[in-house]
Amino acid sequence: MEQRISLHDKHFVPCIGRELIAEKVAAVGAEISADYAGRRPLLLAVLNGSFIFAADLFRHLAIEAEIAFVKLSSYSGTASTGKVNIESVIDPLWLGRDIIIVEDIIDTGRTLAAFVPELQKVNPASIKIASFLVKPDAQQFGIAAHYTAFHINNLFVVGYGLDYDGLGRNLPDLWVVE
Ligand code: IMP
Ligand code: MG
Repeated sequence: MEQRISLHDKHFVPCIGRELIAEKVAAVGAEISADYAGRRPLLLAVLNGSFIFAADLFRHLAIEAEIAFVKLSSYSGTASTGKVNIESVIDPLWLGRDIIIVEDIIDTGRTLAAFVPELQKVNPASIKIASFLVKPDAQQFGIAAHYTAFHINNLFVVGYGLDYDGLGRNLPDLWVVE
């Protein structure tokens, strides 16, 4: 891994390498496969940030499973705007399904605290959350991840799907702001 990269006006240093990421994501996949054996869960991946985690996690499911996508947003630059936009339709066909929301990161939990009640309106059989990363303030809005690859410190990170104003999503490793 290079030791320092620049995106826009910020510098980032290595945080978590791709080998460890692969190992943890596989473990989350195995855990979900065991918990949902015989149930055909529907993964609901939150765009944009979770697309890489969702793709890797999905391929580690050893059970029948489906995937769909929703677009939510609350961030601008490196700070949460405080307002959550649900930019896609919640499908009534999700009624009665075992849904696993797939997120890139839970920072304050505000995004999912706004989304989960909307999702509950279509009466899924169950709702659980799989988040690639969890930050220390994650429970601020009463939201908890049931499955997670890593708990990290309260610092801004990029890579593996996570961006800084559009850049950095394609980095295979995770980088932290310097
Ligand atoms: P929350 O609503 O505060 O939990 O924030 C969730 C969203 O903020 C995530 O889905 C990310 O899109 C974004 N976010 C939070 N922390 C970071 C970070 O360190 N890097 C990149 N995006 C982040
Ligand atoms: Mg996100």
